[in-house]
Amino acid sequence: MKDIKIGLIGAGRIGKLHAENLASQIPNAKLVALADPELKLAKTVADNFNIPYHFDDYHHIIDHPEIDAVIICSPTNTHTQIIQEAANAGKHIFCEKPIDFDLDRTLKSLEIIKKNGIKFQVGFNRRFDPNFQSVENKILQGDIGDLHILRITSRDPAPPPISYIEVSGGIFLDMMIHDFDMARYLVKSEVVEVYAAGGVMVDNAIGEAGDIDTATVTLKFANGALGTIDNSRQAVYGYDQRIEAFGSKGMIRAENVATDTCIVSNDKGSHQPPLPHFFLDRYKSSYLTEMIKFLLCIENDSMPEVIGNDGLKAMEIALAAKESYLMNRPIKIKNTT
Ligand SMILES: NC(=O)c1ccc[n+]([C@@H]2O[C@H](COP(=O)([O-])OP(=O)(O)OC[C@H]3O[C@@H](n4cnc5c(N)ncnc54)[C@H](O)[C@@H]3O)[C@@H](O)[C@H]2O)c1
Repeated sequence: MKDIKIGLIGAGRIGKLHAENLASQIPNAKLVALADPELKLAKTVADNFNIPYHFDDYHHIIDHPEIDAVIICSPTNTHTQIIQEAANAGKHIFCEKPIDFDLDRTLKSLEIIKKNGIKFQVGFNRRFDPNFQSVENKILQGDIGDLHILRITSRDPAPPPISYIEVSGGIFLDMMIHDFDMARYLVKSEVVEVYAAGGVMVDNAIGEAGDIDTATVTLKFANGALGTIDNSRQAVYGYDQRIEAFGSKGMIRAENVATDTCIVSNDKGSHQPPLPHFFLDRYKSSYLTEMIKFLLCIENDSMPEVIGNDGLKAMEIALAAKESYLMNRPIKIKNTT
């Protein structure tokens, strides 16, 4: 296996997780440099994972002649600028979701990626979760016949800091975007219409930051299937991640993954262990698999499993959902490609 030299941009929650996977789990990944404007944080993370160089400006990574690929883990509002500069410098790119909040900036970035012929993968890690892959396989092999209804429940244990909410793009682009991608991945058909409802039920500060914390969406797909998604920024019982696919010949349910399988029964009833706390625990294996697959694409010169168009399609749905919530009516998806 050929070594792949990597620069990591952004050392926050998800940046640290990718740093750990790249440094300790993927032998041919050589994490050469890390950039974060919080220089103290950059140094701590670089020291923790034996990364030779750390910078407060990502341009040092873009300009580094030996770096083959960049992993973009900075806030969403910085993604397209970095994508465009990295692609023009000939670096392969793994970019966290969503690509951006804006379709024009995203389309321009995808053009630049195409022009430079680099690999580009979007961080829709849930496609690499073994449970959801099993749902996909069972749908494809016809276990439930024709898919009629897909139901996705996705609830966080607690909201992120308000500083994160302010630059996140809002619940549909930041959180439900994972579910829009999962819906496309499982139904294998494009979403043609969305109808969203939502509100502020968890924390008024989220409302004051211009966002909502609770939302439901109904989806209509081109092949006639229907979908529903519900999101909450706070489920007091933990990170609640379930999927149900219902079809002409049956139903598949992917239940929550328990931390262990023990059920304790006593005079207060029967109790299961708590759910995994949050995404870093629940989707641990998927983050590692997505990164291994990205590096394999570079090595084998093959197409990533989650491409720029997947990032774009999920954004189109998220933007339509936001519009639907604001207008209080169903919105047809504007297909930009
Ligand atoms: N795939 C997933 O499950 C998942 C989970 C969480 C976050 N994300 C995505 O990852 C991105 C980061 O989220 P997070 O939760 O890690 O946020 P975070 O706020 O914890 O970390 C972001 C880091 O980026 C740094 N930063 C800011 N501007 C920068 C720049 N110009 N160059 C380099 N670094 C910069 C910040 O100082 C901070 O350390 C977001 O786009 C988010 O949507 C994806």
